[in-house]
Amino acid sequence: MRHALCPLRSYESMGLQHIPVMVEEVMTFLKCGSGCTYVDATLGGGGHASEILKRTAPDGVVIGMEWDGDALAEAKNALLPFGERIKIFRENFIHLPDLMKTESVDGILLDLGLSSLQVEKEGRGFSFKGEGPLDMRMDQRMHQTAADLVNRLSLGELEYTLFHYGEEGWAKKIAKAIVYEREKEPIETTQALRKIIHRAIPRRFHSRRIDPATKTFQALRIRVNGELENLGKILETGWTLLKKGGRMCIISFHSLEDRMVKGAFRKLEKEGTMRILTKKPVTPSEEERERNPRSRSAKLRCAERV
Ligand SMILES: C[S@@+](CC[C@H](N)C(=O)[O-])C[C@H]1O[C@@H](n2cnc3c(N)ncnc32)[C@H](O)[C@@H]1O
Repeated sequence: MRHALCPLRSYESMGLQHIPVMVEEVMTFLKCGSGCTYVDATLGGGGHASEILKRTAPDGVVIGMEWDGDALAEAKNALLPFGERIKIFRENFIHLPDLMKTESVDGILLDLGLSSLQVEKEGRGFSFKGEGPLDMRMDQRMHQTAADLVNRLSLGELEYTLFHYGEEGWAKKIAKAIVYEREKEPIETTQALRKIIHRAIPRRFHSRRIDPATKTFQALRIRVNGELENLGKILETGWTLLKKGGRMCIISFHSLEDRMVKGAFRKLEKEGTMRILTKKPVTPSEEERERNPRSRSAKLRCAERV
């Protein structure tokens, strides 16, 4: 349902739409019921939040956090019909404890990574498929872009970034190629970087299924946005905001994140503060993978406060 106050150029009108992942699974784990309060710490297009709001009617509340100004506008629009039951903040989710103060909630959802709205908009520079500025900031108020990293990091730091955040086996070669090329002219666009990566990795090692630029783009995006550091912080503090029996659901999209979630939940279980509800991560059904190919790498883990 769209509200009359829709901006003229909404993402939907541009043919862009984010399909929320594993909605039924998330709703089941969150045990949505009327009168409950949830935090959606990664609001995106508002897909999961709107489902929570529907299932917690008539008086459930969602506190939504999103740091991307474009996504925030989209989510506000999509969630307008829920009126006062949705409270939206443009914040990095690491600030959740300050925002909540002493209030506790029935559940927290983190759906990590990018929304399709961000990936598909060329001007944001997240995708190597189109041409765009090498930006990659999710929060447009941040200062450092991917172009800044590519053009300013030392050879060693570049190699470390590609290896550590992208698990890129060709990190050294790609870093060297970047440093060589940027001495001729700054690397400013997604396609300029993609070409450098393609040339740096010997052709016989190019996969037909996965673009050779995939890992480098992932690494830069993670570093620009401090994604692992943010996840680490919320894993340390998020559980303290849950009521007894309250649940934390985390959907991750790559092994670096999933490993962190698994490790943090295990530690909390050992300490006796949380109980793990997903011994193995839950993954999307075959039907969902086909309907929404972006869901393929999603892994859902959930734990409950004891
Ligand atoms: C996968 S999307 C979420 C999609 C959402 N669940 C839906 O159904 O539409 C992830 C969103 O989280 C946001 N995000 C990522 N890290 C964040 C952070 N540290 N603080 C706030 N928002 C963040 C991104 O900007 C993006 O819009």
